[in-house]
Amino acid sequence: MKLLDGKVALVTGGGRGIGRGIALSLAANGAKVVINDLGAGLAGDGTDAGPAQETQAAIEALGGKAVINGSSVADHAAAQGMVEQAVDTFGRLDIVVHAAGVLRDRMIFNMTEEEWDVVVAVHLKGLFNVLRPATALMRQQKGGRIISLASGSAYGDAGQPNYSAAKAGIIGLSYSTANAMAKYGVTSNVVLPTGTTRMIDSKPESRKIFEETGKWPSEHARGTPKDPDNVAPLVSFLASDRAANVNGQVFHSYGFGYTLIEPPRTLARLEGDHAWTAESLADAFDTYMEPDMKPRPAMPFGRDVDNLGDDDWHAIGEGRRYWVRKEESR
Ligand SMILES: NC(=O)c1ccc[n+]([C@@H]2O[C@H](COP(=O)([O-])OP(=O)(O)OC[C@H]3O[C@@H](n4cnc5c(N)ncnc54)[C@H](O)[C@@H]3O)[C@@H](O)[C@H]2O)c1
Repeated sequence: MKLLDGKVALVTGGGRGIGRGIALSLAANGAKVVINDLGAGLAGDGTDAGPAQETQAAIEALGGKAVINGSSVADHAAAQGMVEQAVDTFGRLDIVVHAAGVLRDRMIFNMTEEEWDVVVAVHLKGLFNVLRPATALMRQQKGGRIISLASGSAYGDAGQPNYSAAKAGIIGLSYSTANAMAKYGVTSNVVLPTGTTRMIDSKPESRKIFEETGKWPSEHARGTPKDPDNVAPLVSFLASDRAANVNGQVFHSYGFGYTLIEPPRTLARLEGDHAWTAESLADAFDTYMEPDMKPRPAMPFGRDVDNLGDDDWHAIGEGRRYWVRKEESR
């Protein structure tokens, strides 16, 4: 008996990169898969049936079952069609993974309205578009798993205002869905993935690697900690019955490991028995709150774990180890 036997999954962006690895892993673990992929260019331009067909062939080569949906997740009616296709073809829908994505990087002071709209439409509205019909179905089914790919950029990548906002929005929508759907046995979790895909090849420093080695970083990554397929085992676990009690969580997938990210928590407070003036608040702020302020949000998750010493880890067998912040240790 495989982990996902009898389950049906929809994977948006399942044709390439991280989504492809997830679609394959879900199928390898027994799920039937609807592969949604527009075959778009990195900036969201054009269409190509090739990537989804290649994923489908790879799933069939494993002995799995998959069908293709080639429409855009940014299209509300088309997203409803994806859910209907899962039900019409395989009889139900248990798992939704939203991995479709595009990039239009630009500084906030130069960004065009179109660059903003395209990125928010695919990532954030795209998630709403699939969740609206999928949650209605899962509520009736009394069960389901939603896994949304956000990004460390949600915490404020300076060169990606549209993408950062969309990804932070995905985290908010996932928390809201987790709270709304818990009583129906549906979980909603976020993965901040990493993996050297064409998204990483598009960075200026990647061209230098291509010029020096004749291969793009994505080609060097296979089988290494940078392989985008390293994200898939976490997603397949979250999609399974074994993860029934994992809800409203955010994970960072990095290298051959997975980090649990702490939700925001209250840190300090100033309070009076009557209203403040701006000036009295300024005085109190300087003395009491300013020293407790944290640095601006950043994307330290990978760096944090890279900087741990060998002594910080507990061996858990089979070449694996575990670390937890000291104040949390049991
Ligand atoms: N690669 C990374 O390191 C990284 C880091 C953080 C977050 N992410 C996120 O992970 C997800 C996958 O990224 P990737 O690196 O595999 O990218 P990728 O470009 O390799 O794959 C994205 C896929 O989405 C598809 N797509 C684009 N627009 C679509 C639309 N409107 N409808 C349906 N499909 C569409 C593309 O055709 C493509 O196959 C994205 O959400 C991305 O933002 C990736």
